[in-house]
Amino acid sequence: MNSPQQFSKVEATPTTDRLSTYLDVATAAALAAGEVLQACWGKLESIVEKGRPGDLVTEADKQAEAVILEIIRQHFPEHSILAEESGQFGDLDAEYLWAIDPLDGTTNYAHQYPFSAASIGLLINGVPTVGAIFDPFHKELFRGAVGLGATCNDRPIHVSTVDKLAQSLLVTGFAYDRRETPDNNYQEFCYLTHITQGVRRAGAASIDLAYVACGRLDGYWERGLSPWDLAAGVAIVEAAGGTVTAYDRSPFDLRSGRILATNGQLHAELSQELLHVAQIEPWSWLNR
Ligand code: IPD
Ligand code: CA
Ligand code: CA
Repeated sequence: MNSPQQFSKVEATPTTDRLSTYLDVATAAALAAGEVLQACWGKLESIVEKGRPGDLVTEADKQAEAVILEIIRQHFPEHSILAEESGQFGDLDAEYLWAIDPLDGTTNYAHQYPFSAASIGLLINGVPTVGAIFDPFHKELFRGAVGLGATCNDRPIHVSTVDKLAQSLLVTGFAYDRRETPDNNYQEFCYLTHITQGVRRAGAASIDLAYVACGRLDGYWERGLSPWDLAAGVAIVEAAGGTVTAYDRSPFDLRSGRILATNGQLHAELSQELLHVAQIEPWSWLNR
C-alpha cells in the first residue's frame, strides 16, 4: 500500500451524464458479481484464511472479482483499480480509482448466513463519488452518486430523521486484528449498546452503510477497514443526505480505516460518545 497522501482530496466536477455512466458500469459489475455469489452459494470447495485468523477467502470472492474486473476494464481501460483479492492496478492517486470488494461479508457467506454483498466504488480525485452495492440474498441494489442522489431498487432513499442517540439503532463491526489490539471496538460496542436502542453487528460493512443510507439504521462506526469496504457505501450515504467523517468529525480519510457515518442529526452526539468512551475506565458507565 502506498502513503495516505496518495488519496488526494481535490474536488472533481464530472458532468451528470458522466456520473450516470460510471454508476451504470458500477451497477452492471455489482449485478454480475451477485450472479456469481448466488451460483457458488452452498457449494464452496475452498475456504482458506488469507493472513489473520478469521480473514477468509473463497473461490466465490475470486470468481466474483474476475467478472467485476472484466466489466470495468472493458469500459474504462485507462482507470486505476484497487481490488481486495487481486490488489492494485495503476496509481492509487489516479484521477479515477475503482475500489472493489467482490464479496463483502465473506465470513457470513462461508457459513451460509445470507448477508453479503458485492461493493463497487469509484473515487474521483480521491473522493468516493459513485457506488453500487448489490445484496443478492435480499435482491437489493443500492446505488448512488454524490450530486445524483441514491436509490434502492430504483426507488429514492434518504437517511433517517432520528435525532437522539437514545432513540437510535446503530451498527458496527470488528476488524480481523481484534485479537491483537486493545483498540478493538469492544468497549465502544458495549457502551453504545447501553445508551441506544441497540447496536447490530451484521458482518458486511457495505450493507451497514447502505442501511444507514436508506434509514433502516441511524449510524455506523468502525475501525480497521480497507478502502474497498467503504468507498461505495460512503458515496451512497452522502448521496442519501448522510454525513461521513472521522470519529472526531474531522474530514473522512479512506486510508485511516476509521469511519463515522450517520444521518447527520446524530453525528455530533455519536462522535462525542465515541471520543468519551475511549478515555474512560472499562465498565465505569454501567450505572449510567
Ligand atoms: C469485512 C466485513 C465486516 C467488517 C470487516 C470487513 P470482508 O469484510 O465488511 O463487516 O467488520 O472489518 O473486513 O472481509 O467480509 O470482505
Ligand atoms: Ca469487505
Ligand atoms: Ca471481501
